[in-house]
Amino acid sequence: MSELTAIVIMGHGGVIGDGADQPWHIAEDQQRFKRLTTGGVLIMGRRTFEAIGRVLPGRTTVVLTRDPEWRHGQVTVAHDADAALAAARSAGGPIFVAGGGEIYRLFADRLTRLEVTLVDAEAEGDVTFPVIDTDTWYESARENRDGYSFVTWERLDRAG
Ligand SMILES: NC(=O)c1ccc[n+]([C@@H]2O[C@H](COP(=O)([O-])OP(=O)(O)OC[C@H]3O[C@@H](n4cnc5c(N)ncnc54)[C@H](OP(=O)(O)O)[C@@H]3O)[C@@H](O)[C@H]2O)c1
Repeated sequence: MSELTAIVIMGHGGVIGDGADQPWHIAEDQQRFKRLTTGGVLIMGRRTFEAIGRVLPGRTTVVLTRDPEWRHGQVTVAHDADAALAAARSAGGPIFVAGGGEIYRLFADRLTRLEVTLVDAEAEGDVTFPVIDTDTWYESARENRDGYSFVTWERLDRAG
C-alpha cells in the first residue's frame, strides 16, 4: 500500500464545512498545511477547489469532477479515483487527499495516514470527515495547542 495522506481540519463530530467554506481559518494550521504539502500533490474535489478559489503555489493540484467539460489551466483534471491517483503519482512527491467530504470518502479505504487538526469546538455544517475508527487507525503523534491539536493517525493494517 503506497502512502496516501488525508489532511483536514475538523471539530467535534467531524464537521469540516458547510459546503461553501471550512469552519476555521487558523494561521498555524494554514502554515502547517503549507509546510506538509509543499512539493507534493493535492487531490481535491471540484467544490473544494472552487471554495479555495485559487491554485495553491508549490504543489500540483489534481481536481476530481464528473463534468467532462470542466477545465482549468493550472490543474490536472481527473474523472475517477484511479485516474486522480495515477496523475498524482506521475507528478511525483507525497500525495495528499485535501477534501472535501465526498473526496475523503472516495479515498477512505486507500488512505494510510491522517493529518488532522482537531479543533476543540463544534461547527455548524453538514459536510463531515468519515469516522476515524480505532479498529483501523492508531494515533501516532499529537501536539496540543490552545483550542486545537495536531493529531497524526496511521493505518493499523498497513500490510493489507
Ligand atoms: N475542513 C477541511 O479541512 C476541509 C477541507 C476541504 C474541504 N472542506 C469543505 O468541504 C466542503 C466541500 O465538500 P463536498 O463534499 O461538498 O465537495 P468536494 O468533496 O470538495 O467535491 C465534490 C465534487 O467532486 C467531484 N466528485 C466527487 N466524487 C467523484 C468521483 N467519484 N469521480 C469524479 N468526480 C467526483 C464532483 O464534482 P462535479 O460536481 O464537478 O462533478 C463533486 O461535486 C466545503 O465546505 C469545503 O470548505 C473542508
